[in-house]
Amino acid sequence: MASKLALVLSTLLLAVNGQAYDGGDRDEDAFSWVQPLNTTILGPYGHSPAVLPSPNATGAGGWEEALQKAKDFVAQLTVEEKADMITGTPGPCVGNIVAIPRLGFKGLCLQDGPLAIRVADYASVFMAGVSAAASWDRDLLYERGYAMGREFRAKGAHVALSPVAGPLGRSAYSGRNWEGFAADPYLTGVAMEETIMGHQDAGVQATPKHFIGNEQETMRNPLYDVNGTVGAVTFEAISSNIDDRTMHELYLWPFANAVKAGAASFMCSYQRLNGSYACENSKAQNGLLKGELGFQGYIMSDWGGTHSGVASIEGGLDMNMPGGLGSYGVNWKAGSYFGANATAAVNNGTVPESRLDDMVIRIMTPYYFLGQDAEDFPSVDPSTANLNTFSPPSSWLREFNLTGESSRDVREDHGGLIRRHGAEATVLLKNVDGALPLKHPKSIAIFGNDAGDDTEGYYNQQNFEFGTLTAGGGSGTGRLTYLISPSEAIKARAAQDKALVQQWLNNTLIATSNVTDLWIPVVPEVCLVFLKTWAEEAKDREHLSVDWHGDDVVYSVAKSCNNTVVVTHSSGINTLPWADHPNVTAILAVHYPGQESGNSIADILYGDVNPSGRLPYTIALNGSDYNAPPTTAINTTGVYDWQSWFDEKLEIDYRYFDAHDIKVRYEFGFGLSYTTFELANAVEVESCTGSETVSSRPEAQPVMPGGNPALWEVLYNVTASVTNTGGVAGATVPQLYVTFPSGTTPAGTPPKQLRGFTKKTLQPGETAEVGFELMRRDLSYWDVVSQEWLIPEGEFVFNVGFSSRDIRATAKFAPVA
Ligand code: NOJ
Repeated sequence: MASKLALVLSTLLLAVNGQAYDGGDRDEDAFSWVQPLNTTILGPYGHSPAVLPSPNATGAGGWEEALQKAKDFVAQLTVEEKADMITGTPGPCVGNIVAIPRLGFKGLCLQDGPLAIRVADYASVFMAGVSAAASWDRDLLYERGYAMGREFRAKGAHVALSPVAGPLGRSAYSGRNWEGFAADPYLTGVAMEETIMGHQDAGVQATPKHFIGNEQETMRNPLYDVNGTVGAVTFEAISSNIDDRTMHELYLWPFANAVKAGAASFMCSYQRLNGSYACENSKAQNGLLKGELGFQGYIMSDWGGTHSGVASIEGGLDMNMPGGLGSYGVNWKAGSYFGANATAAVNNGTVPESRLDDMVIRIMTPYYFLGQDAEDFPSVDPSTANLNTFSPPSSWLREFNLTGESSRDVREDHGGLIRRHGAEATVLLKNVDGALPLKHPKSIAIFGNDAGDDTEGYYNQQNFEFGTLTAGGGSGTGRLTYLISPSEAIKARAAQDKALVQQWLNNTLIATSNVTDLWIPVVPEVCLVFLKTWAEEAKDREHLSVDWHGDDVVYSVAKSCNNTVVVTHSSGINTLPWADHPNVTAILAVHYPGQESGNSIADILYGDVNPSGRLPYTIALNGSDYNAPPTTAINTTGVYDWQSWFDEKLEIDYRYFDAHDIKVRYEFGFGLSYTTFELANAVEVESCTGSETVSSRPEAQPVMPGGNPALWEVLYNVTASVTNTGGVAGATVPQLYVTFPSGTTPAGTPPKQLRGFTKKTLQPGETAEVGFELMRRDLSYWDVVSQEWLIPEGEFVFNVGFSSRDIRATAKFAPVA
């Protein structure tokens, strides 16, 4: 990785709370982006003001009764028991809070998330967040969240460490974008809300994570000295330096939906935020989350993300996970920043006991609210203990009494659901000359190392060469009980047509051979090429190409096969340089669709399901076209020098490409169907408040979960009419993009921002009206001076279309008189 030494100096003057900030330097070269320490920091961009004390829970939003039960419970605890309640300990689950038998409290079991209950056998592997977002389907998002929630609960998990809105997708290269949803706050916000409601309707606590600014993996944690000595830090973790407006309009936005949906707990992130560790950042935790958004639950640390005791407790952190010291917090024997230290801090008066009480009250309120104290709440499956390599039984310091059926099968009929979801979320990017759906071909060639069965076991997926991919790596993966490969599903389908199926799964061989040598003597009617792209936790992607010479595989096949259909299993963005090759007749982006992958793909290929997925990000022409790359190197040696300046502000993904009029390959929101749709030219804007115009400033109402309720009030309904003009039934996703008035909205506002979408299934010839409800927040910008969401004066443009760059109809309207 060559590092470009000549730095491009980009000095920006940015108004933040009336003060100026002198932005940092950036090297724009591929995968070595150097950001030197900026020493002229003014204002809250780059440092974080103290917001103290941590607000107490009030039970607002329907949790009042549960709050009282939590208070009654806490009133019976000793200080030591309270300290136990806020401190994880090694046990059967990924995170464990010990039982208090004298009060009938059986403890808490916390499990990863976010695409399966990971530490489990006989559980399902659902699609990843990126696939779910690609469905653009609220119902699918809810169903997935609910089914997953049922499996967590049936395995005895009280808390699902899911879903993910951080990373949001600031950088195309971030290693964990696939765990989250979309590179857009609105779509991610909807996905968070539906998933959380699904999890919690199933009786499991949701944990939106990672709060906040966790937009890259490189240097997400501090570097300790070679001996791993606790406290001996060579470099502190990277600091995500985010200005106030960008924080509100991009990164906080989907987390606000999460609070509104009633999320039980939040997980703070590893990295620093504007200078201080996210898990002790009082501005983020006390100010934004518990204050401005009225969050009533508890904040737990990411695993080992706690770097102080009293400062974190004061800064709003309520639970230390997994509880110990050292990297990833697994050195339990060395003690804890919480635990006995929390007891001591209360006993010597450093921390008021009322703060400790609020921490436990916040933990127990959602527990009671979701009925987790019920006798019939399932016990922790004893098999979990031996599957958990994170804290195996040999590491336990406390007793865990594991009862109930071991290795219980919690999959219900979720296989069918996952198959349907996988097909519904598949994005058809190209389809020429009716290449798809397949028309009972009698001769099929399958290419690529992603087509076949896993060759290295059904345990958590890894970056192995041979075998299909359906999840990324790290804590967000799943443990497969079976995996339907594309090859298996296609062979089964082809057998119905008595077709000949030939397959070559060695990418090196395909890329370096004349493929006609491989298929002699029968020329295939269709060549199906399966490609994969791996991404994992703790590592950013080094490029945006498909892995394992996948591009060469396509060129080699397409050179001789004039009906080459490419299918990608990918963590997200791939640049697809061969997309315009005349012999590449169709492209499907399937992302990480879950255990039924092959069946979902076959359903699309053979036309049983009409594709209706849409891209939840932009595919640019080149990897270097994306802005906001991760910071992968620094050229100074100071302990605090790892900095990532979010100086692109609101300009991520399509917001950036649109603002700079950059040509892209496939834009945000794009996706094809086997039928065609039209939008009528008329877009109507109706008031929902009884008055045509509204005030610029929201009425000041008492904060409820989600913030000022006035922000969630539906002000207008934008309607349009859509028709299926093709020959088969199918679903489409009309999308609403809002252009804010120029002149009255602050500089830096993106040209278009998604503010509505709806998925609609239509029969051939059928027309339906689609509506987009606009809430006050949707029409507002965050005003850093008044610290308020304001609707600007002037004319908005409501753009309705089939993608961010395929606008079919517009309406203009000025909401503020
Ligand atoms: C670290 C990851 O960042 C987080 O997402 C996960 O929940 C914990 N580890 C526990 O595995």
